[in-house]
Amino acid sequence: MNEKSTLRSAEWWGKQDRDGFIHRSWMRAEGFAPDVFDGRPVIGICNSWSELTSCNVHLRRVAESVKRGVWEAGGWPLEFPTISLGETYMRPTTMLFRNLMSMDVEESMRANPIDGVVLLSGCDKTTPAQLMGAASVDLPALMVTGGPMLNGKYRGGEIGSGTMVWQFSEEVRGGTKTWEDFFEAEAGQSRSNGHCMTMGTASTMASMAEALGIAPTGNAAIPAVDSRRYALAQLAGRRIVEMVREDLRMSRILTREAFENAIRVNAAIGGSTNAVVHLLAIAGRIGVPLELDDFDRLAHDLPLLVDLQPSGRFLMEDFYYAGGVPAVVRELGDLIHRDALTVSGKTIGEETAAAPCWNREVIRTMAEPVKANAGIAILRGNLAPNGAVIKPSAATPSLLTHRGRAVVFEDIEDYKARIDDPDLDVDETCVLVLKGAGPRGYPGMPEVGNLPLPPKILAQGVTDMVRISDARMSGTAYGTVVLHTSPEAAVGGPLALVENGDLIELDVPNRRLDLIVNEAELHRRRAEWRPAPPAFERGYAKLYTEHVLGAERGADFDFLVGSSGSRVAREMH
Ligand code: FES
Repeated sequence: MNEKSTLRSAEWWGKQDRDGFIHRSWMRAEGFAPDVFDGRPVIGICNSWSELTSCNVHLRRVAESVKRGVWEAGGWPLEFPTISLGETYMRPTTMLFRNLMSMDVEESMRANPIDGVVLLSGCDKTTPAQLMGAASVDLPALMVTGGPMLNGKYRGGEIGSGTMVWQFSEEVRGGTKTWEDFFEAEAGQSRSNGHCMTMGTASTMASMAEALGIAPTGNAAIPAVDSRRYALAQLAGRRIVEMVREDLRMSRILTREAFENAIRVNAAIGGSTNAVVHLLAIAGRIGVPLELDDFDRLAHDLPLLVDLQPSGRFLMEDFYYAGGVPAVVRELGDLIHRDALTVSGKTIGEETAAAPCWNREVIRTMAEPVKANAGIAILRGNLAPNGAVIKPSAATPSLLTHRGRAVVFEDIEDYKARIDDPDLDVDETCVLVLKGAGPRGYPGMPEVGNLPLPPKILAQGVTDMVRISDARMSGTAYGTVVLHTSPEAAVGGPLALVENGDLIELDVPNRRLDLIVNEAELHRRRAEWRPAPPAFERGYAKLYTEHVLGAERGADFDFLVGSSGSRVAREMH
């Protein structure tokens, strides 16, 4: 390698000394021809492949396509693993480990001879974790997601990942479906590689990556098994080499305008509420000021354009054939900052100017949307001084303004122990309140906010009630569910003070969430409240509970906010 190369990898391969010998010699053990050391860009392929992350299990194959493109463009691809986060397996919740994975991504990138990176993600938390980690290094980077599964099939119809499991399990609990029906649906739901094919968190975050401009245009919706995903990966491999030569770093793409575009696209696609915490965390890493209220201010009145489950009817395969995210961006017109830069080097406006829509049932026009005013609403009030989140498009309209009696569960175990009790003092007008499920309290802010209703309420044919918690909700779930209530109960937020029988008032049109209890009584309860003793004496969970920020700060660690750049550290010898 030319010693004068300005690439950071030259600090390893270009040294004409003992250290250079060591770096090159050990790499030659992998059998590379010696001209890989000739000064070409080294492209790390950051792979979240794992057999314990079934949504990402095909990413080794995607990596092969990326490598093909990198070689073609004169780069040198080196694939490396990080921890991966399998949404349906990791306990107590993958969200506990999102920040850990982001640290792994960040430190692996910075510590190694890498000039640019292709991030390969898929399952829910793997996408934000990679973006957070890479943003804190700020090298040229590009994301290719693994794509959704093919549409689920069940008894002549289509079923979406996750969405139907909530409905089916409610039907089994309510006695209108058998366990045999339930088990039969399992096989039909997940019938190919890929992530959940509803507009759940994985599809949402893939769409966010595309709207942010950090994934190639058209990336999000291509099914995992479609040959066009592999062609896109090859082109991405070629492009990242050019990006290194252009020094096109993440910070030039992840601008305030890019985040505003993502927030608006999230509303238009009916994206998951989880996008709120993840986008806040990514913005915090790259240094873009972004507030919880931006989600409401920028997008509360945007229409829902995409008719996908859980808000609508179709699935990601249909979304791809209809035109995917580019068609949505084009339809949003002037609501999009069209001059925001993308990884292609072109603006998002240039990228989507001619994006076609092939199916107006799946992707509607602004004039004839699926629903009006479909964005995320941010609530405040004496129950949520730092904010709470609700997705009105997934809620029952008549419940968006509601006053009801609180039925309180101190934690999820308390809920599970009592919810099926026929003597539980609850009716359909009550408000179910769950405490202890926030970032610090659980810990890890699990997706339990969409509490299943009591069986005796379900038996009456009631399918929705107001539910409030400091938890998150699966992107595939639905209902009148207030989430991310902050400050959370575990740190003494007002949620901790709610007692059975208190009146709670939800007023989404006026963005209010209030506990109708007089201030003197709240003062008394606050004085009596005591935090639970620390649940963890050692290890990552201890680090997490001591440093995690509130949901309104993206539940990142206080010491991870910001970037440490890509400076090469001192030699190890
Ligand atoms: Fe991996 Fe849904 S479980 S994306």
